[in-house]
Amino acid sequence: MCGIVGIASSKEFPIKGELLARLKKLEYRGYDSVGYATSDGICEKGVGELVKFIERVKDGKARTAIAHTRWATHGGVTEANAHPHSDCKGNLFIVHNGIIENYEEMKKDLERKGHKFRTQTDSEAIAHFLEEKMGKGMEKAMQEFMKDAKGTFAVLAIRKGDEKIYAMKRDSPLALGLANGEMILGSDIYAFSDKTNKAIFFDDEEYAIIDAKGYEFFDSKGKKVKKEIKEFTWARQEESKHEHPHYMIKEIHEQPVAAERLIRSLEADQAQKVEKLVNMMKEADRVLFVAAGTSYFASLLGVYFLNKAGLKAQTLIASEFENFMYADKTTLVIAVSQSGETMDAVTALKFAKGKGARIASLVNVPHSTIQRMSEVSLEICAGQEVCVAATKTFTNQVVALLFLASKFGFHADFEGLPLQIEKTIASNEGKVKELAKKLKDRNDIYILGRGLSYPSAREFAHKLKEIAYVHAEGMMAGELKHGTLALIEDGTPVFSLIPNGDADMASNTKEVEARGADVILVSSMPGSQFQIPTTNRGIFAILSVIIGQLLAYYIARERGLPIDKPRNLAKSVTVK
Ligand code: AGP
Repeated sequence: MCGIVGIASSKEFPIKGELLARLKKLEYRGYDSVGYATSDGICEKGVGELVKFIERVKDGKARTAIAHTRWATHGGVTEANAHPHSDCKGNLFIVHNGIIENYEEMKKDLERKGHKFRTQTDSEAIAHFLEEKMGKGMEKAMQEFMKDAKGTFAVLAIRKGDEKIYAMKRDSPLALGLANGEMILGSDIYAFSDKTNKAIFFDDEEYAIIDAKGYEFFDSKGKKVKKEIKEFTWARQEESKHEHPHYMIKEIHEQPVAAERLIRSLEADQAQKVEKLVNMMKEADRVLFVAAGTSYFASLLGVYFLNKAGLKAQTLIASEFENFMYADKTTLVIAVSQSGETMDAVTALKFAKGKGARIASLVNVPHSTIQRMSEVSLEICAGQEVCVAATKTFTNQVVALLFLASKFGFHADFEGLPLQIEKTIASNEGKVKELAKKLKDRNDIYILGRGLSYPSAREFAHKLKEIAYVHAEGMMAGELKHGTLALIEDGTPVFSLIPNGDADMASNTKEVEARGADVILVSSMPGSQFQIPTTNRGIFAILSVIIGQLLAYYIARERGLPIDKPRNLAKSVTVK
């Protein structure tokens, strides 16, 4: 979480129009507080949204500056705890993404040496540590920091009167964009993708010294490292909301186009990668998926498709992977991750790699950490997703998994899919909007699924929780009678996702209806409140979730919630 930006330019640039505008592109990584510092020694910080901060602070110019948008870990959401943090004299400023695990130890030691701390953050220790070691030069100070620090970090540091940016990285992502007369550092490529498509990605245990004219990379002991410049492509027009009031609804409506783009890419541009991955899946004794949140629900669908097609596959939530999964050299682990940066997934992959497993992935963000860790990585081509809630990336993850499963014999009609998504939205959006008015004050909503509609029920509920703040549960319909049925009372809203011809789902639905539940049918059957235009089960899994996306959006609107930036969350979760 947290987004960091640094610019070293040959010409002066405006703080608001350039530095903070770039920070805005990373705001989805965290939005508790913001701040920036320049090589002239100016440092401004504030709590809350970046737009408000921009309105409040005086504009200025700089040639070298760093900025930060925070997702709080250590220390409350206060102005003091906002980054940048400075050393005692206010000569050095740092921004940090990650967690310094031994900061208390470091802090005690530095306080004994006379340093005065002003915040409750772990990050402030970095500024004082560098100040303490600065006598030996900034490079030595960074090397010592990397030797002594435990935990994760992407750090940018600047000094008053010095037009250089000092950067260090372990586990947390950091990239350097090479623009004309300007070097732009960012937590990801979005920070500079409007200016350049050339980037260098930091590897773990590297530091770099950057100014407007160039850069030098080193390993943590000070040995020079030669870095490769990577090129990427990105659809920039997707950064704007166009006519939509929120990114979420814009991204829901983009799903037909995004799915179409992915299908074409898997059939043509990525065909060789698909073939390679399919061969790896055939060669492996077991295929394990690893993912978090929405991506986990997508991976659960992948397991369903593949198992039905005769391939042994399993999935597990990334943060529990080490505890409950066995991996060895006969295992193929496939990470599913929109951001490609989720720390839980990265950690699980490192664990699996350590056991000899082969690694592959499905990601949305090109050149992300997970992609770079993978032997083969399919891109899901959803384009930038700005809303914290995954919508089009979920759909495309499932499409990619369906596509892989189709290579093992699972049937799905890819040609018709974009149109079916469009029809699902067009024929249901108005009805969802009306229903949202009725459900806006409900505290509990249940969603039933079975087999293939179970992961969809989980994702449907996930959207309601994170965007509409409704306590929603996606449940296995067959499991209700073992306990949860006790929660059903007169008028309890229960959505039932019934894939074509699923007789067991239909009878489980009758069971809740008999207990007074207000049942809302999502199915292809005529007479359903929400009609899904397909009889194909794989496609049903995708389309039924779209009802949940729309419902979460419209309930959140009724409730007046901050839809694109829900409380306490961030889009790229780079802490464990
Ligand atoms: C999705 O709506 C959520 N914001 C969240 O559950 C997300 O899916 C999860 O954090 C995993 O992210 P990733 O796909 O980037 O790995």
